[in-house]
Amino acid sequence: MAAIPLSTNFEQEETQRVSKRYNEKVALVTGAASGIGKATAMRLASEGARLVLADINLDALTAVAEELSGIETECVRFDATDADSCRAMVTNAEQRFGRLDLLCNIAGIAGAWRLEAMTQKQWELMLSINLTSVFVITQAALPLLLESRGNVVNMASASGLQGQPYNSAYCAVKAGVIGFTKSVAAEFGSRGLRANAVCPGGVLTPIYDNYSFPEDADQALVNRMLPLPGVDLSTPEEIAGLVAYVGSDEARFINGSTLSIDGGQTAL
Ligand SMILES: NC(=O)c1ccc[n+]([C@@H]2O[C@H](COP(=O)([O-])OP(=O)(O)OC[C@H]3O[C@@H](n4cnc5c(N)ncnc54)[C@H](O)[C@@H]3O)[C@@H](O)[C@H]2O)c1
Repeated sequence: MAAIPLSTNFEQEETQRVSKRYNEKVALVTGAASGIGKATAMRLASEGARLVLADINLDALTAVAEELSGIETECVRFDATDADSCRAMVTNAEQRFGRLDLLCNIAGIAGAWRLEAMTQKQWELMLSINLTSVFVITQAALPLLLESRGNVVNMASASGLQGQPYNSAYCAVKAGVIGFTKSVAAEFGSRGLRANAVCPGGVLTPIYDNYSFPEDADQALVNRMLPLPGVDLSTPEEIAGLVAYVGSDEARFINGSTLSIDGGQTAL
C-alpha cells in the first residue's frame, strides 16, 4: 500500500503552534547561566518569550543574554542562599516587564557524601539553595503569577523520588521540592495558577560532570542513580523541551504533577 504523505499544511501549522506558545509572555529562569537553566532560557526565547535570566554567575549570564541578541532579556545576579537577594531579583523582574507568566526555579547544586561524613554546613547549604530559595522566590512571585494565571515549574530530580546512597541531603531537598510544588498546586489551582515539578535523571551539565561519589562507594548501589542499561544520559535541551511544554497553555490540565524524564531510572 502506498504511504500517505503528511500534509505540508499540517507541518507548517504544527511548527507555528509550537513556536507561538510564549508570544507576549514573560518567563523568569533561575540558574540561567548554565546547563538546564540556560537551555530552558534558549528554548523559551525561541518560542517567543521575554526573559528574566537570574543566576549568581553574572559573567556567564551576560554571555547567555548575548547569545539571545534580539530577544528582550533582563539579567539579574542573585544569590539563592540569601532570601533578600531572591526577593530583590523578583522585584527587579517586575520593574522591568510588569508581569510574569512562568517562573522556572532551576538554580541548584549537588553533592554526595557518606552520611557519617556529611557536615551540618553541607546539609544547610543544600537546603538553602535547592529548597528554601524555591519557597522564597515562589512566594515573592505569587502576586504576579496569580494576576497572569501563570505557572511555576520547579526543577526537582529523580533523586526526589527514590532513595539514593551517599545522596541523602540532595534526595531530601528534591523530595521537599516535590512536596512544596504539590502544595502550591493544591492551594492555588482553583485561582488559575499551576505548579509542577520536573524530575530529570542524569543530564550532561557541569553539575553532573563535577559529581563524584565517596571513595569505596558500593558500585551496585551507585547503579541505582543511572538510566537503564543502554540508555544515554539526557541533554539539557531535552529537559528544556519538557519545561517549555509544561509551562505552556497546552499543559493547562497538568497541575501538581511530578514529571519524570530519566531514561527509565525510576521505573524499576
Ligand atoms: N544535571 C543533572 O544530572 C540533574 C539531574 C536532576 C536535577 N538537576 C537539577 O537541575 C538544576 C540545574 O542544574 P544543572 O544540571 O543545569 O547544573 P549547572 O551547574 O549547569 O547549573 C546550575 C546553575 O545554578 C546556579 N547557582 C548555583 N548556586 C547558586 C546560588 N547560590 N544562587 C544563584 N544561582 C546559583 C549556577 O551558577 C548554575 O548556573 C538543579 O536544580 C539540579 O539539581 C540536575
